[in-house]
Amino acid sequence: MLIRDHFRVGRFVLACGLAMALVSGAQAAGLGVSEDTFGTLSDGTEVDIYTLTNANRMEVTILTYGGIVQSIRVPDRNGKIDDVSLGFDDLQGYVERSPYFGALIGRFGNRIAGGTFTLDGETYQLPVNNGPNSLHGGTKGFDKRVWSASPIRTGDRVGVELTYFSPDGEMGYPGNLAVTVRYTLNNDNDLRIHYSAVTDAPTVVNLTNHVYFNLAGAGNGTILDQVAMLNADRITPVDDTLIPTGAFMSVAGTPFDFTQPKPIGQDIRADHQQLAYAEPEQGGYDHNYVLNNPGNLDALAARVTDPESGRTVEMYTTEPGVQFYTSNFLDGLQGQDGETYKHWGGFTLEAQHFPDSPNQPDFPSTVLRPGEKYTQTTIYSFRPK
Ligand code: BGC
Repeated sequence: MLIRDHFRVGRFVLACGLAMALVSGAQAAGLGVSEDTFGTLSDGTEVDIYTLTNANRMEVTILTYGGIVQSIRVPDRNGKIDDVSLGFDDLQGYVERSPYFGALIGRFGNRIAGGTFTLDGETYQLPVNNGPNSLHGGTKGFDKRVWSASPIRTGDRVGVELTYFSPDGEMGYPGNLAVTVRYTLNNDNDLRIHYSAVTDAPTVVNLTNHVYFNLAGAGNGTILDQVAMLNADRITPVDDTLIPTGAFMSVAGTPFDFTQPKPIGQDIRADHQQLAYAEPEQGGYDHNYVLNNPGNLDALAARVTDPESGRTVEMYTTEPGVQFYTSNFLDGLQGQDGETYKHWGGFTLEAQHFPDSPNQPDFPSTVLRPGEKYTQTTIYSFRPK
């Protein structure tokens, strides 16, 4: 056989192999996805739970209710596995008392001032559910909807694809919005979230995920000793209802500076107006950090490490901002395994466009028009350090 023919045969065999892998979903060793029933809503709708596993004994569970990341089990430096995301054991917890634990947030993550905005000359009124403002998509946002789901099996990832159709006018937002979210896990301990959405009329979109992390294990004390680095030189400062003033504030020389790693609790009680707006009595972070490398999925956006267990989460995102929130409103909430979630018992890293963007002409736009596609990719990586 001529060399050329060898190549041809080789290429053919390779192509067949690839095709078979795609058809049969052949997986890298150790990856798995399974599905089970989690519970039933009062209207009889069944809620399912998908379990993603990898070769490093990492396990992530995701609910069709709210697209909620219900648990993220990660080994520590000695191999001890713990769930690093706050949540509940049962559906009732999520329905009745969840402060957005692990949930997909939409149509608009974070706050819109007065619950109102104007787009193309039309003014829209949204439900007001947080002081004078609309928070996280209104009274019944994407976090409280049941999503359609199907498993994902590609060569090096497993996951679940969730879809939700948000009709025109839902929670006051214009346009029919079709949303797809793909959660996947690989053997590098990357939990990747890919979002996309299309609309048939001009609207605003700002999707995010609201996992509360405690790298020492959910319910295991506060996160004050965990060491954070946020790759952001500025925040968008807020007023006393946590709406951005429209200004940008340099973090240099303030308690907001996490450009060099420091314990989250180091400056949390400092005397600073912005900390007091977030938590008037004891201080806290609840602010949008303006990332230094917006749109760059290869640039590290944030890293938090628990010195005690050695567990680390790194965040990479295509979004321009991240809401860093230190659970300032948690105070003895009963969570999973009989645990109690304390004040400062978790932190969030919500990849997002900036809060109140529809009313802030100087912020990156959150407008989505027919023919355009909203996309976001965010990765929470638990690669051992
Ligand atoms: C907000 C907090 C809010 C929390 C609700 C965060 O995204 O920034 O102010 O209390 O969500 O759980």
